[in-house]
Amino acid sequence: MQPLVEPFFDSVTSTLTYVVHAGAGSVCAIIDSVLDFDPKSARTATCSADRVIAFVREQHLTVEWLLETHAHADHLSAAQYLKQTFGGRIAIGEQIRTVQRTFQGVFNVEVDAAADGAQFDHLFAPDETFTVGALAARAIHVPGHTPADMAYVIGNATFVGDTLFMPDVGSARCDFPGGDAHALYHSVRKLLSLPQETRLFMCHDYPPPSRNVCWETTVAEQRRTNIHLHDGVSESDFVEMRTRRDATLSMPTLILPSIQVNIRAGALPRPESNGIRYLKIPLDLL
Ligand SMILES: [Fe+2]
Repeated sequence: MQPLVEPFFDSVTSTLTYVVHAGAGSVCAIIDSVLDFDPKSARTATCSADRVIAFVREQHLTVEWLLETHAHADHLSAAQYLKQTFGGRIAIGEQIRTVQRTFQGVFNVEVDAAADGAQFDHLFAPDETFTVGALAARAIHVPGHTPADMAYVIGNATFVGDTLFMPDVGSARCDFPGGDAHALYHSVRKLLSLPQETRLFMCHDYPPPSRNVCWETTVAEQRRTNIHLHDGVSESDFVEMRTRRDATLSMPTLILPSIQVNIRAGALPRPESNGIRYLKIPLDLL
């Protein structure tokens, strides 16, 4: 059985959320949900996640999994909000512990963010198999952008996370703490060894002015035309290009709010004695 894939594009953060299911009334997984966050007012909102909720209700789907490909640095996860609404298990790769350890130091937090991954309902080991209702699935460890990135293979669809982008955009950056361009190269070769016709779904799209937003491609197309990682690009050439390019990129607007929430599986910090929740902003660190 092959999955149906419903994409939701969040234009503020250029993130794709996917609902993966087997038809009306079936079980589904929701991948990489977005909690809206306005950095000027520090207000959260649920417009993006509510579009997903409306679809899940309309299709009478049962949410079994709330999958995160990694601890995103560009948006807050809505996994907790979706879990409160539908239930389901929030899952990520087991290397999230490494990311938690790194950022515990950055944020100097221990209480809510023990580096044991216990904030998540499930941690995937590399190549762990699982099911989404009647659909067969597998988690693949694809480090490089972060140490904990996972790609999820569900039937003939693979959700690549921050590894490859559309062929004309290339690849994800590798300069966040724990990032590694060598590792990303090998992760991408692993993804591109899947069957040629595998449907690949991107985590983001940053389209050039000449085209609209896209999110789906195939292994064959990426191997032929990805500007950074088509067949024939050597590891050293890729690492040299990626490192040079990363040096020109500024930090994402939401990296500090996102990471400290996302390493807690999307849970916001506990309210302080006045009932207000606070995020931390480390100075002169990133
Ligand atoms: Fe990312």
